[in-house]
Amino acid sequence: MKLFLSFLAIPFLLWVSPPISFAQSGCPPTGFDAEGPFYKTGVPMRENTGRGLTVSGKVKSAGSCTAIPGARVEWWQANPQGSYDDEHRGALLTASDGSYRFETDFPPAYYSRPPHIHFKIFAPGHRTLTTQVYPGEGKSSIVFDFILIKQ
Ligand SMILES: [Fe+2]
Repeated sequence: MKLFLSFLAIPFLLWVSPPISFAQSGCPPTGFDAEGPFYKTGVPMRENTGRGLTVSGKVKSAGSCTAIPGARVEWWQANPQGSYDDEHRGALLTASDGSYRFETDFPPAYYSRPPHIHFKIFAPGHRTLTTQVYPGEGKSSIVFDFILIKQ
């Protein structure tokens, strides 16, 4: 009888257990969000595209959750008047612990869009991530980690 119950338990445990790679992952990948029409290449390296909103966090690898040093973080956003300009585009490389930090103007809502900042994150051995971050109204700082998928 005991042996019979063991045979019953094995399929049951397999059924209720999520896949190990998913269960052990504390870093689900950051979702894609639209690039939009205003992305430009060749933006200057800098840590300031305005004042009043500090954006910081880390770039990490999905699954292992390890930090990615030297990842290229690019951002672009509307200026306070609601137009995209070159002053509100920047790029930086993450530090040895995968962290990044920059200061910018709070992005305004425009048309029907809520305030948002566009991002592209590039890292060797990982898929390029295109996404947007939506800081809540009235925030002076936000922390956002970008989780990239390994190639
Ligand atoms: Fe936009």
